[in-house]
Amino acid sequence: MRVLIISSQLNFRQQVQAACLGVTDENVSVRTAETMGQGLELAVQFEAEIIFIDLTRNVEAGMIAIKQLANVSNRLVVVSIDKLSTEFMTRSVRAGAREVLSQPVQEEEVHEILKKAGSLLNDQSSIQPARTGKAIMFFSSKGGVGKTTLATNLAVSLQNRLSGKQVALIDANTQAPNISPMLDLRPERWLRDAIAEYKRLDGELLSELMTVHPKSGLHVLAHSTDNPLGLDFSEDQLSKILLVSKGSFDWTIVDTFPLLSSLNLSMMDLCDEIFLVTEAVVPSLRSAKYNLEVLKKAGFNENKLRVIINRYSSFKGNVEPELVQETLAWPITAVIPYDMNATVAANHGEPVVLDYPNSKISYGVQKLTDVVLGVETNMNDFEESFLQKNFRIARQFLGM
Ligand SMILES: Nc1ncnc2c1ncn2[C@@H]1O[C@H](COP(=O)(O)OP(=O)(O)O)[C@@H](O)[C@H]1O
Ligand SMILES: [Mg+2]
Repeated sequence: MRVLIISSQLNFRQQVQAACLGVTDENVSVRTAETMGQGLELAVQFEAEIIFIDLTRNVEAGMIAIKQLANVSNRLVVVSIDKLSTEFMTRSVRAGAREVLSQPVQEEEVHEILKKAGSLLNDQSSIQPARTGKAIMFFSSKGGVGKTTLATNLAVSLQNRLSGKQVALIDANTQAPNISPMLDLRPERWLRDAIAEYKRLDGELLSELMTVHPKSGLHVLAHSTDNPLGLDFSEDQLSKILLVSKGSFDWTIVDTFPLLSSLNLSMMDLCDEIFLVTEAVVPSLRSAKYNLEVLKKAGFNENKLRVIINRYSSFKGNVEPELVQETLAWPITAVIPYDMNATVAANHGEPVVLDYPNSKISYGVQKLTDVVLGVETNMNDFEESFLQKNFRIARQFLGM
């Protein structure tokens, strides 16, 4: 019997684990996860049959997690919380939990649940995990390195390549949001509305709160520059928004504010990949190195956490990508060249990949899109020829 315990409380994990291992007439193996993101991942890898999930800290995001976890045949989800209420029990049962474990944990109660599970799970059909979309977050603890530029352009580029699939872009830069002006959008609904309605948020409501970028079809959950939320929201709220988005979109790209905060960490936990953006400049590299050290300790590895060098130009005295790799002791996933078209396009309110598809930066974003999709495109399709470049400059000059 494969048991997974998901809880941010160490004593909960230890007590349930001890109770499970204390069962003698069943062959029980146990895994534990501290965060919801780890738990969702481990549930698939380990093909967990019984999952104890503790929602003490994340009720709303937890309900979505239960829905995903329980949407698999031959699995029993057991919910727990520090303060049980009838409303909580009704909601978690509706989400798919089949048993409730009260806190503090009683060994006999756990045994009772395992016994029931033994008879429920005797059919041998294999576990089919529910499919969810993938999420990528752009992060750095330094501002101005190009997170928003790259997040926006990668999202547009993915949406262009994957016609028929749906891509979402979430502006979770809660301090200084700027995706909406970057794409010249005029949203009527905002991240703030998703936060206000987060308890009843589902895929349909989330889509209604998003603004579609007319040229690409990308769905954007914008955040208002005039009305930022400051610190006025919780991990549970942002986690729920991200989980709902993953449940309805094939890809979700998240832009963030430059701080290694618990809010950003809780979103990182639920993302499949984190792109740490840096410039090949000493102050930026110092901050990137520190971030990598902290995140490595938090359990992020090279597959999940990737380094991107942005605004790169090779001139004498600049740090070469190879040296960056050595300094950071981390592989470099992509090098995006310095290109002033990034700024020109931002001033037009156009994504540079559409405004100047043949520019150096667009070429870099296309290569990054390849990495994300695990494909290789012939870059001659994107590379600007000498002639094209001169035409472009002439057009710019003539204002055409
Ligand atoms: N590859 C690039 N080459 C040149 N300028 C860039 C590049 N990427 C971003 N920029 C410019 O750098 C500035 C900061 O970018 P932005 O995406 O807002 O950074 P962040 O979101 O990290 O604060 C903007 O003026 C943007 O146009
Ligand atoms: Mg930004």
